[in-house]
Amino acid sequence: MARPSSTSRIPATPHPVMIALAIANVVAQIGIAVTGSVVRVTGSGLGCPTWPNCNPGSLIPVAHPELQPLHQWIEFGNRLLGVVVVVVAIACLLGALTTRPRRRRLTVLAALMPAGVLAQGVIGGITVLAGLSWWSVMPHFLASMVLVWLSVLLVSAAREGDAPATPAVPGAVRGLVAVSTAVLAALLIAGTLVTAAGPHAGDAATPRLDVAVPGLASLHADVLFLYLGTLVGLGFALRAVGAPATLGRRFGVLVAVVLAQGALGGIQYALGVPELLVSLHVLGAGLVTAAASSVWSGTTTRPVPATSTTPTTTTDADQRPLADATADRP
Ligand code: HEM
Repeated sequence: MARPSSTSRIPATPHPVMIALAIANVVAQIGIAVTGSVVRVTGSGLGCPTWPNCNPGSLIPVAHPELQPLHQWIEFGNRLLGVVVVVVAIACLLGALTTRPRRRRLTVLAALMPAGVLAQGVIGGITVLAGLSWWSVMPHFLASMVLVWLSVLLVSAAREGDAPATPAVPGAVRGLVAVSTAVLAALLIAGTLVTAAGPHAGDAATPRLDVAVPGLASLHADVLFLYLGTLVGLGFALRAVGAPATLGRRFGVLVAVVLAQGALGGIQYALGVPELLVSLHVLGAGLVTAAASSVWSGTTTRPVPATSTTPTTTTDADQRPLADATADRP
């Protein structure tokens, strides 16, 4: 008689738990980008001069004649969230490994989380060694956005099955989504270039990118207009092909966050990049990335295989074409 494998004795992860872990992971990944920016714009990087203790002999901040309490608590809070990010990433992997039946796509995406966090640890270490130089901060931020993107794919993988992907829209529309994703990547890179030349380096001694900020900011805004152009085209295309209502809703969310983020970017520029707005802009970048990833994943569906007990959260109404679904709106 076949003996049960050692992993089969571990209780299976309930489907809602896996989804909750994946959602917590998205929140943690966006959150760490935001708290990292708060550390940078407030110049709190040395608020805790030692590691892992914040101050010599103390894990948490203690009164210090040379350190401002606010800087200490901001850096300490960022470290705490870093621990949460690691724990949630590992929990996602363990959750995927103990999902029954084992699901390849879910496991691969979940494994990318701790791997990505490890890579970010290395890039972060290089950033510190490089004295917070802009050329090291840029990849640190962009890698964070890649992790946000993958985190949203992980949520989709947790919700969907592992059956081969079925296109929800024709190839030409998926091509347009790919083009808009490439433009979004350029938009994010342009944003990090503005930051690289801007005043928020994290330390007064940090060398800055020696390019005039107004020129870079206008390049950044131009790429935003290009991105908006691709979104307008995509909106018409989704309607023309009668895309599923779920995809239509995700697209609507993406347009809303892009417009809000664009307005915020313009306001923060006009006001001389105040710290609070810069960190909100980083939050916006994370939300735009997450929304774009959810549109990407909505262009295909992966039905639950017949053998799987995994329920799906996608309803028939969700899969109805956009044209049909809007027909019964008041
Ligand atoms: C959807 C639209 C937008 C996205 C996704 C976006 C994204 C970004 C990103 C990723 C950064 C770099 C953040 C960092 O490295 O910490 C950034 C910085 C910046 N963005 Fe945007 N941005 C958008 C729209 C705009 C607009 C319309 C403006 C107006 C000119 C603008 C002005 C700026 C400025 C001034 C910075 C540098 C802030 C600093 O000094 O750190 N952004 N943006």
